[in-house]
Amino acid sequence: MTNELIKQIQERFETTFNKEPLTINSPGRINLIGEHTDYNNGFVLPAAIDKGIITAIQKSNNNFCTAVAFDLDETYDFSLNEIIPLEKGGWKNYIIGVAAEIQKYGKTITSFNMVFGGNIPNGAGLSSSAAIENGLVFGLNELFNLNLSKKEMILISQKAEHNFALVNCGIMDQFASMFGKKDTALILDCKTFDSSEFKINFGKYQLLLINTNVKHSLSESAYNDRRSVCEKAASSVSKESLREVTDEDLNILKTTLSIEDFEKVLYVSQENSRVQEASKAITNNDIQTLGSLLYLSHQGLQHLYKVSCDELDFLVDFSKNHSEVIGARMMGGGFGGCTINLIEKNAVPSFSKKVIEAYSKQFHKECSIYDIVLSEGTHIHKN
Ligand code: GLA
Repeated sequence: MTNELIKQIQERFETTFNKEPLTINSPGRINLIGEHTDYNNGFVLPAAIDKGIITAIQKSNNNFCTAVAFDLDETYDFSLNEIIPLEKGGWKNYIIGVAAEIQKYGKTITSFNMVFGGNIPNGAGLSSSAAIENGLVFGLNELFNLNLSKKEMILISQKAEHNFALVNCGIMDQFASMFGKKDTALILDCKTFDSSEFKINFGKYQLLLINTNVKHSLSESAYNDRRSVCEKAASSVSKESLREVTDEDLNILKTTLSIEDFEKVLYVSQENSRVQEASKAITNNDIQTLGSLLYLSHQGLQHLYKVSCDELDFLVDFSKNHSEVIGARMMGGGFGGCTINLIEKNAVPSFSKKVIEAYSKQFHKECSIYDIVLSEGTHIHKN
């Protein structure tokens, strides 16, 4: 996050509300591996990144709140009483959602003003919505001394997503954005909330994101549909989630589910094992194996879980034909957004040039390359 942008957002707050704000920095996230496993009580391996959302916030003396979306130059006034989700509300639903869910949780807040903005490309699958939600809940927790733990805060952020943005998401995005650590990826058991840290140093390799610039839309029913397929499958064998499903259950499900639904169940089960293998590979400094697991994950997402798209597949196939990349896959919910690539550091400039050219030849549009740094989770920004 650039200091310049932080300053601009703080200045916008000061000129609009005549007060000095509290400033919160809340990052977006990447995910090394473990896609669509979080809402199945499985494992994920995400990290917070150096792209995020800045929220400048302060109590208000009015009986309404004012929220300014700095990047869009849009302003929204709302009252804290009887908040309901807005139809096609976009960013506004994240804001009112957090305010409503804090109150539903039994905590008292009064009116506040805020300006937020950042440098997470919209729709890139880097969890700008989780960063907005976490930034706000963190800021309100400070301002109103709510005494919420980080875990309570991310559960509130997730509720805002479920009940206001109407995306039945898991907990990975909010978790990674809140708990991220510098140079570190976190393996999270989404059932128990146990997590451990992995210092990331891939030696001669590094991570590189390539954005298809195809905007994914998670609220599209595809995401919620997949979640409900998984839940129904688990409950049909009397299990709480796919996490608990055994090989024996899989054999039963193979005969009771449609082929498409069984493939989704199979993908989740395989992806959970891949996260475990990936964590071992990182511990053993076996980066080649980690790379192979990324490719396998993509295969599953493309052919079994069916959440990829032509642009993502093209980028992954292109990587496979270039030996400087040792693993790649689509990242996040799918249907657009970024691929995550494990690439030789010194090949980044030449590979980037080649992939940009090839992508634009194929789709007549640009892809974007992001070099990311693993960063600290949601925190107060000190000037
Ligand atoms: C989105 C959701 C997450 C997770 C991923 C897929 O980012 O918000 O909870 O399900 O998709 O892994």
